[in-house]
Amino acid sequence: MSNPSARTPAIDTKLPAVGTTIFTVMSALAAEKNAVNLGQGFPDFNCDPQLLTDVSAAMAAGHNQYPPMPGIPALREAISAKIAQLYGHTYRAADEITVTAGATQAIITAILAVVRPGDEVIVLEPCYDSYVPNIDLAGGKVVRVPLTPGTFRPDFGRIAAAITPRTRAIIINTPHNPSATVWTAAEMRELEELLAPTDIFVISDEVYEHMVYGEAKHQSAASFPGLAARSFIVSSFGKTYHVTGWKVGYVAAPAPLTAEFRKVHQFNVFTVNTPMQHALAAYMADPKPYLELPAFYQRKRDLFAAGLAKTRLKLLPSQGTYFQCVDISEVSDKSEADFCLWLTSEIGVAAIPLSAFYGNGFDQRVVRFCFAKKDETLNTALDRLARL
Ligand SMILES: Cc1ncc(COP(=O)(O)O)c(C=O)c1O
Repeated sequence: MSNPSARTPAIDTKLPAVGTTIFTVMSALAAEKNAVNLGQGFPDFNCDPQLLTDVSAAMAAGHNQYPPMPGIPALREAISAKIAQLYGHTYRAADEITVTAGATQAIITAILAVVRPGDEVIVLEPCYDSYVPNIDLAGGKVVRVPLTPGTFRPDFGRIAAAITPRTRAIIINTPHNPSATVWTAAEMRELEELLAPTDIFVISDEVYEHMVYGEAKHQSAASFPGLAARSFIVSSFGKTYHVTGWKVGYVAAPAPLTAEFRKVHQFNVFTVNTPMQHALAAYMADPKPYLELPAFYQRKRDLFAAGLAKTRLKLLPSQGTYFQCVDISEVSDKSEADFCLWLTSEIGVAAIPLSAFYGNGFDQRVVRFCFAKKDETLNTALDRLARL
């Protein structure tokens, strides 16, 4: 006999639009079909062994208890020095830098710190999939502004038109996932001018800051005083050091913003695992790993692009990130999502439809591959894609 007191109460979901994502579907299908998984964005190679040695050393040295709430001072100092060196703005380690559990926690914490019920937050679509549910959880209103279809450049006319007295924040992302574009200095200045007369905060997602190719240069919001003064700058060690599973990132923001950020941070994670922080602080003493990252990934991008150029897929520019987008219209008249399912099942390579990064599923015949893979993985994928 069932016990009536053991009834699970019905839960009224806070996120009705969130279900199984295309990333889960594609990864499961890729595993089932033994496809090369170029869908989800993470490396299939290991990090520098030095970093592993540094973590073991930190654990052996007894760095295994709670660290200070905002992160260990040595790591915050190293982050501060790097930002000052690369972007010309000094954030004080004491009250302007916070170590987070990856960029994901940094973004939701910044949103919870500033967005109140009914506030509007502008997102530029296509966008990373955590932004919209994060705004929903804060009770904010998502205001979607598309990047220009085809080029994925910001359309400042449309952004200006979306601003209202209720706009609390805008989320930007450069280098950009999924389109692989990189904002120019002129675009950053245009945003700076547009926001100057407003009290709008910026959440600047810069997790791919060290992956920029050719002429492109990363433009951090830290480099533009009018943006730096209103921005939460977010980055991720997972991307930079090939350790996405460690989930360590950081936020740099002016002291009053950091103070509010830390109030939320203190009560959602309190702090971030200790030995990784010590290892990252030691490892950051040498800037070479992040300074050499563009050359490392540019070679992979070029290897992959050279193979794709032999197919009827049309390459879009990959200026940054570890993604390469392609136009599928010469190869197929399927929707992006159906094409990706077909590509995984029939060709044996998984990709992600760009429509997954839009609230309305906008389909422009473009799919995204991740090239953060061993050369042999990329070559296996290219052998299969040669049939297209
Ligand atoms: C644009 C963007 N922001 C944030 C993240 C999350 O970074 P983390 O793994 O450090 O939480 C990702 C990861 O794919 C991303 O692509």
